Amino acid sequence: MSIKVAMLVGSLRKDSFNRRLARAVEKLAPGELAFEHVEIGGLPLYDQDFDGNYPTSCQQLKQQIEAADALLFVTPEYNRSVPGVLKNAIDIASRPWGTNSFAGKPGAVIGASIGATGSALAQQHLRNVLAYLDVPLLGQPEVFVQFKDDGPVDPNGEITVESTRKFLQGFVDRYVQWVHTILKR
Ligand code: FNR
Repeated sequence: MSIKVAMLVGSLRKDSFNRRLARAVEKLAPGELAFEHVEIGGLPLYDQDFDGNYPTSCQQLKQQIEAADALLFVTPEYNRSVPGVLKNAIDIASRPWGTNSFAGKPGAVIGASIGATGSALAQQHLRNVLAYLDVPLLGQPEVFVQFKDDGPVDPNGEITVESTRKFLQGFVDRYVQWVHTILKR
């Protein structure tokens, strides 16, 4: 049976390195994983007044997350933290209170930046948020990828550096194991 993975990328940029990384991971994954790209750019800014009457786009986001078996977050680092657009989507899907759409779904956090720390601080902040939201997160390997215009992943998601391919394959293998462990299937 296929495992649906909701993938949230924290960059709206057309040539996003994090989107390249997401594509690369998708290509390395076995066929049993079916990735769904969750669009977060068109969502309104979360407003607690929504809670009485949730906007349609926010309900759709929640439904998409709830229909998934597992989660994969791919985040850039903005000013040493999670980009607002991703935090906004997480806030929306976590509410109204008592209807957290993420609860119990196995997940992982990975990311890329142009800096040498490869989005490590943003990922750490995101881990705190997701721990609170009851997402069982893969601990290792951590994936901090430093990007330049020429790699290590091209715009089509093709990995151009062999050591990066091996490393990301190792991540994907552990992620698949983790998802099976949590889903017990
Ligand atoms: C950045 N960038 C950045 N990089 C980093 O390593 N640490 C940081 O704190 C920041 N802060 C930051 C703030 C803002 C507002 C921007 C726009 C950028 C650089 C960032 O890593 C780079 O722009 C990446 O290319 C963003 O990811 P995508 O859009 O390529 O996926």
